Amino acid sequence: MIADIIVDLQYGDCGKGKVTHHLCKQGGYTHVVRYNGGCNAGHTIYHEGTKFVTHHIPAGVFFGIKSVIGPGCVINPEKFFKEIKELEEKGIRPRNLIKIAKNCHVITRKHLSEDADEVEIGTTKSGNGPAYRDKYSREGIRAENVPELRPFLCDFYEEMHQEGVIALFEGAQGFGLDIDWGDYPYVTSSHCTVAGALLNGIPPKAVRNVWGVAKVYETYVGSKKFHGNGEIFDKIRRIGNEFGATTGRPRQCNWLSWQLIEKALNINGVTHLVFNKTDVLREADEWKMYDCNNILQKFVDEDHFKRYIQQKLAKSGMTIYFSGDKATI
Ligand code: IMP
Ligand code: MG
Repeated sequence: MIADIIVDLQYGDCGKGKVTHHLCKQGGYTHVVRYNGGCNAGHTIYHEGTKFVTHHIPAGVFFGIKSVIGPGCVINPEKFFKEIKELEEKGIRPRNLIKIAKNCHVITRKHLSEDADEVEIGTTKSGNGPAYRDKYSREGIRAENVPELRPFLCDFYEEMHQEGVIALFEGAQGFGLDIDWGDYPYVTSSHCTVAGALLNGIPPKAVRNVWGVAKVYETYVGSKKFHGNGEIFDKIRRIGNEFGATTGRPRQCNWLSWQLIEKALNINGVTHLVFNKTDVLREADEWKMYDCNNILQKFVDEDHFKRYIQQKLAKSGMTIYFSGDKATI
C-alpha cells in the first residue's frame, strides 16, 4: 500500500479540500480516505466552477475514486444521506463510490442534543465530542449497527490491505485543534495528525508524502479569544471570507504563528508544504507573522515574507507552495 496524507497545520479551514481535489485530479489514487472527525468538518471545494461544501464525504467522489470514511471517524447517518443528496442535486454521483468502515462510530440524536447546549469550547454542535466520548467509554454505537448504512459498509482492513492500493488520506480540523497537541480544552475530540491517519490501520512504512496545509495568516472558530487587535484582522476576515463552512460563524483572525507551524511540521513529518490564501494578504497589503519567540515580524512585501519562510526551511528539503484562494497549487 502507498499512503499520501494531508494534514492541516493550524486550526482547520486551511484548504485541505482544495489540496485533496488537486491531488485527485492528478490521478493515480485508488482510494481517498477521511481519517478523523465527523460532520464538524466543512471542506470547501470548487469543482469545475461549482462550489461544494462537504462534511463527511471525501473528495474522491468528484473524480470517480473510491471514497472511504475510515474507522477513526464518527458519522451522523442523517447528515451523511443529506450530503449525498446535495451532491446528487449538483450532478455528482457518489453512491457507488462511498464506503464506510463498519467499525466507525455513530453520532446519535442524544449526542446532538447534548452538544447543542455547549458554549465553553464553542463546538460546531455536531455531536462530535459526545460521540467520541461514548466510543472511548465503550458505550458507543458502530456504523455496522445502523441498518440504513448497511449498503455502504466495508471491512476497512480488507478494503485497504489489497494489492495495488494507493490511498490519499484527507484529514479534518487541524494541529491547533488536535486533542493532544491543541490548546486544550479548546480542541476537537480526535487526532488531527499523521498519527491519526495511521490509527486507521495503516503501517508507517506505507507513508509516501505528507502534505501540510496552512494559511499565510491564522483563523480559529471557538470560544477562546483569538482575534488580533486592530482593523486589519476584520479586513482579512472580509477579504478572505472567513466564515465557518459548517456553522457560518465569523472566524477569528490573527497573524501566522511560526511556532505552531514548526511544531506541526516536525510532529507530522511534512514533505510538501502548501500556504494558502496568499492573495488575501496581498489584497490586505500587510505581511506579518509571529516568529519562533512569538515576536511580531514585519515584512516590506510578499516577496520578503515568502523568502523568510523559504530560508527557515531551506535545510528541510521540503517542497513549498504559496497559493491563492481558488487557484490550484
Ligand atoms: P467540535 O469538533 O465540534 O467538538 O468543536 C471543537 C472545536 O473545534 C471548536 O472550537 C470548533 O469550532 C473547532 N472545529 C471543529 N471542526 C472544525 C473545522 O472543521 N474547522 C475549524 N474549526 C473546527
Ligand atoms: Mg473547514
